Amino acid sequence: MTNDVSLGESLTAAAEEFAEVGIPTPEVDALLLAAHVLGVGRGELAARVVSEATWPEGQRGTFEQLVIRRATREPLQHITGEAGFRQLVLAVGPGVFVPRPETELLVQMVVDAVMASGQPSPRVIDLGTGSGAIALAVATEAPHAQVWAVEKSPEAYQWARRNNERNGNPVTLVAGDLSDAVQIVGDLAGRFDVVVSNPPYIPDAAIPRDAEVRLYDPAIALYGGPDGLDAVRVLANVAQQLLAPGGLLAIEHGELQGADVRTILTDAGWRPVATHPDLTTRDRYTTGVWPS
Ligand SMILES: C[S@@+](CC[C@H](N)C(=O)[O-])C[C@H]1O[C@@H](n2cnc3c(N)ncnc32)[C@H](O)[C@@H]1O
Repeated sequence: MTNDVSLGESLTAAAEEFAEVGIPTPEVDALLLAAHVLGVGRGELAARVVSEATWPEGQRGTFEQLVIRRATREPLQHITGEAGFRQLVLAVGPGVFVPRPETELLVQMVVDAVMASGQPSPRVIDLGTGSGAIALAVATEAPHAQVWAVEKSPEAYQWARRNNERNGNPVTLVAGDLSDAVQIVGDLAGRFDVVVSNPPYIPDAAIPRDAEVRLYDPAIALYGGPDGLDAVRVLANVAQQLLAPGGLLAIEHGELQGADVRTILTDAGWRPVATHPDLTTRDRYTTGVWPS
């Protein structure tokens, strides 16, 4: 294989192939794959494209192999082995949910609450931590917080353990079921400031359209019972035993679930309860305060 094909030509061809198979952001995915192969940032890649650079020896073939994988709808993050989340680059792959940009806003709510609490060492627990995304982002951005995380899936737990290690183990990470969180934290029950969760919330019968989600995100990360809200019902009960009076529960959910989540929290005694939009104005997060 000759290397006299320019980066720009390869990117165009890859983007066309991605568009044909329905990948929603074909140009971006082509760029990110090329940047990964070349080991450069997007700025450096753009500069090379503008200067009509060609592929270094051997790397065009590598890129084309990865394009084939992406065209089968294997997630970009599984191919590169990493996902950017807030200030972090997290290791991800088979067996773990790929963290999503919308969850970054949930982290912001938690960081804001932790900062506003005025506590010298506020306690936060992330239930269903997956790659460790929420817990590690909070621990990184609010380093005075004591952050715990619980994960049930043994495969996901291994990814969280790896990410925690890579970041200096700032999170107390426990393998277990979120319904056992009170037993897991022992003496700290009733002394947390924030409980946060991005639980599985897709109704069992609502199979996701995107192949990346349907085929690669683990089922335990996606499906939450007949109406998708099984985990939310557990959280509404468990979180009140974890939090100190006045503590905050913050849950991510589907855009049509806000009213149902508010009802579950209100019926369980949470006051006040509110649903918050994401950057596209869709209702994606509900918070509740455990009354003092
Ligand atoms: C939607 S994913 C979110 C992962 C991560 N928090 C994030 O935002 O990227 C839900 C996570 O909850 C975990 N999970 C599902 N049921 C659980 C349970 N009963 N106890 C603990 N973790 C659970 C799944 O394995 C998965 O990692």
